[in-house]
Amino acid sequence: MGDRDLYEQAVAIAARAYAPYSEFHVGAAVLATDGRVFVGVNVENAAYPLGICAEKTALSRAVTEGCRPGDLEAIAITASPCGGCRQWLHELGLERVTYARADGELVTSTPAELLPDTFEL
Ligand code: THU
Repeated sequence: MGDRDLYEQAVAIAARAYAPYSEFHVGAAVLATDGRVFVGVNVENAAYPLGICAEKTALSRAVTEGCRPGDLEAIAITASPCGGCRQWLHELGLERVTYARADGELVTSTPAELLPDTFEL
């Protein structure tokens, strides 16, 4: 599957976002090396810091289904990934990250480009 097709899946799932506070609906779609796709949306909460980003939802679903670092090829996101999500993209070893910039331009990058000098344990 191409990055553009993966992005279209992220756009489609964004309609299911639960974002009553920000009204900023985000969708993410993760492509595993075996061809499986895991989608996710942001899920907000009245206690604002408890909300979860779309990327984390999609990546958590992939991990729950057995995926580990090295099993995930690409992710597409309808927004520029936040700082915390960039750390997740690094941890789980995504090869490509396609996302819509604030001006709407679609770009493909790598976790290393998005988050240099990454924290490691
Ligand atoms: N959001 C994401 O889902 N992913 C990001 O990387 C950026 C921010 C969500 C979190 C919150 O529900 C809403 O966008 C506004 O910040």
